[in-house]
Amino acid sequence: MSNYSSMRVISIFALHVLVVLCEYTNLPEVPQGVFNASTRVEIHSTTTAAVWNALTNFPGYADWNPFVRAAIVVSPLNLTLPEQYPVEGKRLFLRTQIPPLPLPVNKDTPDNLLNTQFAYERITHVQPDLGRLAWEYATDTLIQAERWQAVSDLGNGVVLYESREVFNGLLASVLQKTLGESLQKGFDDQGRGLKLFLERGA
Ligand SMILES: *[C@@H]1O[C@H](CO)[C@@H](O)[C@H](O)[C@H]1NC(C)=O
Ligand SMILES: *[C@@H]1O[C@H](CO)[C@@H](O)[C@H](O)[C@H]1NC(C)=O
Repeated sequence: MSNYSSMRVISIFALHVLVVLCEYTNLPEVPQGVFNASTRVEIHSTTTAAVWNALTNFPGYADWNPFVRAAIVVSPLNLTLPEQYPVEGKRLFLRTQIPPLPLPVNKDTPDNLLNTQFAYERITHVQPDLGRLAWEYATDTLIQAERWQAVSDLGNGVVLYESREVFNGLLASVLQKTLGESLQKGFDDQGRGLKLFLERGA
């Protein structure tokens, strides 16, 4: 092999390593927290619009999401608002299952009352052009957490869905010890639930 072609092989190899190390993501860069829960799943035979619609259609969450069983946009006094889609600055009431319900779920799947938790969130970012959505935990001051979701087109009918919630605050390490694994399972399974729901409809 000439010097030139061996250099070429090495540089192609280096490029490949670089691409693998810097995995593509549409999640924004955020500071590291105490811990985080995340998911990343490729959904086939779908469109970014279909994934975005599923994520922003709050009344439809129970049809596919084993972790967030209800997401309701509420007023500061907790009254249900007429518009049930994400709007920056609005409050969001969540009824969750930690750990998540077994898959698959639909709107009639009953909660496991032992695993039911309530949370109030504030919707922080709604960015349809970027395919990004975020809300932050606003239930108490001992834990701070912001959850991002991102949708991006990988081509050939494949859409990447990603989500990550970064936890901070005085009680974050206690939360990690008690519920960290269950929260991670909730993220894994809501990615799997979304994939099941959208690929079934394909
Ligand atoms: C999320 O957690 C992983 C694994 O601990 C870590 O490598 C990554 O840097 C964390 N990301 C953020 C934004 O905290
Ligand atoms: C707030 O509203 C939700 C949704 O209607 C309800 O399930 C929850 O119990 C309410 N919280 C309080 C404290 O009333």
